[in-house]
Amino acid sequence: MKPVNVGLLGLGTVGGGTFNVLNRNAEEITRRAGRGIRITHAAAREYDPAGLPGVEGIDVSDDAFSVVENPDVDIVVELIGGYEPARELVLKAIANGKHVVTANKALIAMHGNEIFAAAQDKGVMVAFEAAVAGGIPIIKAIREGLAANQIEWLTGIINGTGNFILTEMRDKGRDFADVLKEAQALGYAEADPTFDVEGIDAAHKLTILAALAFGIPLQFDKVYTEGIGRITREDVVYAEQFGYRIKHLGYTRRTDRGIEMRVHPTLIPERRLIANVDGVMNAVLVNADAVGPTLYYGAGAGAEPTASAVVADLVDVTRTLTADPQNRVPHLAFQPGSISDLPILAMDDIETAYYLRMQVADRPGVMAEVTSILGDAGISIEAILQKEPAPDADRASIILLTHVVQERQMNEAITRIEALDSIHGAVTRIRLEHLEVN
Ligand code: HSE
Repeated sequence: MKPVNVGLLGLGTVGGGTFNVLNRNAEEITRRAGRGIRITHAAAREYDPAGLPGVEGIDVSDDAFSVVENPDVDIVVELIGGYEPARELVLKAIANGKHVVTANKALIAMHGNEIFAAAQDKGVMVAFEAAVAGGIPIIKAIREGLAANQIEWLTGIINGTGNFILTEMRDKGRDFADVLKEAQALGYAEADPTFDVEGIDAAHKLTILAALAFGIPLQFDKVYTEGIGRITREDVVYAEQFGYRIKHLGYTRRTDRGIEMRVHPTLIPERRLIANVDGVMNAVLVNADAVGPTLYYGAGAGAEPTASAVVADLVDVTRTLTADPQNRVPHLAFQPGSISDLPILAMDDIETAYYLRMQVADRPGVMAEVTSILGDAGISIEAILQKEPAPDADRASIILLTHVVQERQMNEAITRIEALDSIHGAVTRIRLEHLEVN
């Protein structure tokens, strides 16, 4: 059978990896797909031919629009990243009847509803396995492997750069900026690394996972997002003394009142497998009613791990090119007419446990003042630790863990605690999840 022609937009880290994996494993991939998959066209402003053996045999242009308009191209692979012109290119490719594979989480999280509606109208596929957790086949797992289940919650370490920074700070006491530079040099970090450290990249990915898990539209603007910039080494050390690790988690949960979607630093018990996912590795833990917990672990970034997911999508699309569009796996796991409008909970309405750290005057009665505010607010304390002041200082630290409460109650209690004369500065608050599974 005639090979499928692919037009590759972008020959950077992931584009180069995709080019090399497709060429290196061409024979194996053909045996799996049932026909050859070859890159015939590419678009890149700059690229290094030395790292791309065979690139001289394809048509490389600096105009991505010429690739999406080319009638010889069957599948467009979008690896440019960012919102525009990626959105315009993908919509043009769809309008031209081409299938699309993309690794662009920002694009899917922000414009996926529009893109999937356009694809549905044209009867083409848009595959995006590489958009979440790089090489881990988490989209396939949720959309197909877990199709029997009611998913209750899922959580993930879904930004390798952030996890690498937290791991190096914890294990080696390294400086934040220095570790970030290394992640950039290794090609893990986003073009704008604030997307990694502020949690925006993780929020893009969580938006996609929540839509697939619960059959809701993509709603990036409703994800609560908090970065790792305020995590200090002392919080990492105190968390460990309580038996917890601090991870930058994406977390989404179905409740009776709606869906929680949040990205923030989180204490999790160190005995959980996911607490031991270190460096640039990613992991997603899904808790579902029939199967119970399942954990997916692997490389979340990098040239060939991401290419692994892109090429798997190419194989998937190739296998179903001739299938009736109505009988394909739906883009967002649920049939387009069955997407639910469950509300997304505001952050004040979510429920979680907390780690609190505060600096207090070292005098009698301070602990009682703090605990009585928490008691009045109906907040129950799980553990408490007081650290005496250093010999030349007069401030002690109180660190405590609470049971689960509504965020609104905690905000009110923190405001009252911070108003006490005996408290210095702001209270540090880190959310805590026990991740108890069925
Ligand atoms: N910047 C991302 C990360 C790349 O560090 O995980 C993969 O999406």
